[in-house]
Order: sequence, then structure tokens, then C-alpha cells
Amino acid sequence: MKIAVTAANGQLGSTIAKQLITEIGTENVIGIARTPQKAEFLGVEIRKGDYNNREDFLMALKGIEALLIVSSMDEPQKRIQQHRNIIDAAKTNGVKKIAYTSIVGDSEKNAFSPVVKSNRQTEEDIKNSGINWVIGRNGIYIEPDLEYVDHYITSGEIYNSAADGKCAYTSREELAVAYSKMLLEDKHNKQIYNLVGQPITQEQLAELLNQVYGTKLVYRAASVEDYLLERKGELGEFLGTIISGIYEGIRNNAFNVTSNFEQAAGRPHKTALEMIETYKKNLEK
Ligand SMILES: NC(=O)c1ccc[n+]([C@@H]2O[C@H](COP(=O)([O-])OP(=O)(O)OC[C@H]3O[C@@H](n4cnc5c(N)ncnc54)[C@H](OP(=O)(O)O)[C@@H]3O)[C@@H](O)[C@H]2O)c1
Repeated sequence: MKIAVTAANGQLGSTIAKQLITEIGTENVIGIARTPQKAEFLGVEIRKGDYNNREDFLMALKGIEALLIVSSMDEPQKRIQQHRNIIDAAKTNGVKKIAYTSIVGDSEKNAFSPVVKSNRQTEEDIKNSGINWVIGRNGIYIEPDLEYVDHYITSGEIYNSAADGKCAYTSREELAVAYSKMLLEDKHNKQIYNLVGQPITQEQLAELLNQVYGTKLVYRAASVEDYLLERKGELGEFLGTIISGIYEGIRNNAFNVTSNFEQAAGRPHKTALEMIETYKKNLEK
């Protein structure tokens, strides 16, 4: 059983590759990366794969039975063709199963919707490929909030446009457990799973951070317009719009979805408190 993971040097790709290695051993996992040297730390065979280059994937997917496609980071319109390059090369090489890391959320109503919409298109492309498939719709990662905790402490608050909306966060480690099972077990074929944990408000997030970090953070709500302007000023047009779009989505409960995590992973999702504690412990190691 040879399983390949794209973007294998990235944070999600490498976490999934490591989980697969513990399940099926180094000889059965192949990492694909656009700069192969960057994935050597995994200690498995690494092949070259730039999402913009179909030829790379025609070579990289030789002899591969199952493939995990990590969704691209590029602009929504570019992503669709990048993913098609990989899917076409998988078809040519007779790959038997594709797992795809999609996203939960609303494909119409907020500034993050173009990203969600492009993911839905790739889901369709995979379903129409004739290859067996399983799709995970990932929740919002909790890690970026935890990486940002020093900024929250400096300002004493979490400030964004989510208001009272709830977000069902997940973590890359939780996702890795689910994707490894989804790749290895046939019972997941032709399933679409929402890979999320429990839904929480930003106020609850602040309380949980206070509990773990001993802080006194409060939550302050911004209007959608003010937050969009503030984020664009800090992060630029593209990323600022995406990030503020995520909080606009949270405000409208676009990420407050029913979880299918247990069906995928065979165990319940960690609570938000457990994810925050795990993140802090891992940093202290
Ligand atoms: N659910 C969420 O909250 C959330 C948040 C952020 C992103 N995402 C999505 O989840 C994906 C994985 O996230 P992550 O945390 O692992 O991000 P990450 O650590 O930034 O990794 C991104 C990976 O994509 C690779 N990549 C970018 N462009 C590529 C190309 N043209 N060809 C081949 N590889 C390319 C990067 O390779 P290089 O090192 O060579 O650049 C890197 O390995 C993202 O790409 C995005 O679609 C989801």
C-alpha cells in the first residue's frame, strides 16, 4: 500500500504524513513537495510536485495507490486548475483513491466564500474523476489563534467581527488522525465529513485561553466593515480579506456545523480546552 501526501513539508501535510508513518511505516508513505529538500525531515521517499505542473505529478504519482491532496494556498481561481493537474495525473497513473482536505463554510455569503466555492468545485472534480474518493471539510484551525496569544495578551483582548457566532474549531493533529483513517479504511469511500470539534464563541475562546494561560483576556466585537479595514491595513488586500471573511463567517455561524469527526476518526474530537492544552504542552517540550 503506497500512500502519497502532497504539500508534505507544510504544517498539515507533514502532520498527516507523520500519522500515516506511525500506521503503515516509512516504506509505504511517499511525500510530495514542490521543493523536495524541504520535506526530507520526514524520513520517507520524497518526490517533486508543484501544483502548477501536471508533468511533475505524472511522475510523482507512479505506483501510488492512495493520494491525499492538501488544498492549495493560492487564489481561489488558480486553485481549481492546480487541483485538476493533480487529479488528471492521478487518473493517468491509475491511483485508486483520493482524499481531499476541503473546508467547511458558506460558498456564497461572506468575504471567505470564494475560497469555500473553489473547494466545492474541487470536490466535484474529484467526485467526477472516476477514482474512489473521500472528502474532509476541515474546520478552522485553532493553532493560528494560539500562535497569536502574545498579541492578545499585549492588547488584553480578542478583537474581531465574529460577535456571538460560534465556530467549531479543529487542529492539524486532530485532522491527521481522521485523514489517516479515511485513507486506510474503505468504509469511508464516497463520504463527505465535516472534520470539526465543538462550536464555541469568541467569548468562550477567551475564557479557555484565560484558563490555560492564566490571562485575563476579554472579547470585544468589531463591525464587519471596521474589521475588514483593519485586517487589510495589517495583512494586505488578499489575506486581509480572507481573514476578516473567516470572522464574518463565524458571525453568521457558517462554521457552526454538525461534526462527523468521530465517524471519520473512530474516536471523539478533542474538546477546545484539550486542544489548547495540547498545543501549549507541545511548545514546552
Ligand atoms: N482550515 C483552516 O483553518 C485553514 C487555514 C489555513 C489554510 N488552510 C488550507 O489548508 C492547507 C494546508 O494548510 P497548512 O497549515 O499546512 O499550510 P502551510 O503550512 O502554509 O503549508 C502550505 C503547503 O502548501 C505548499 N504549496 C503552496 N503552493 C504550492 C504549489 N504551487 N505546489 C506545491 N505545493 C505548494 C507549501 O509548499 P512550500 O513550502 O514550498 O511553499 C506548503 O507545503 C492550505 O494550503 C489551505 O488550503 C486551512
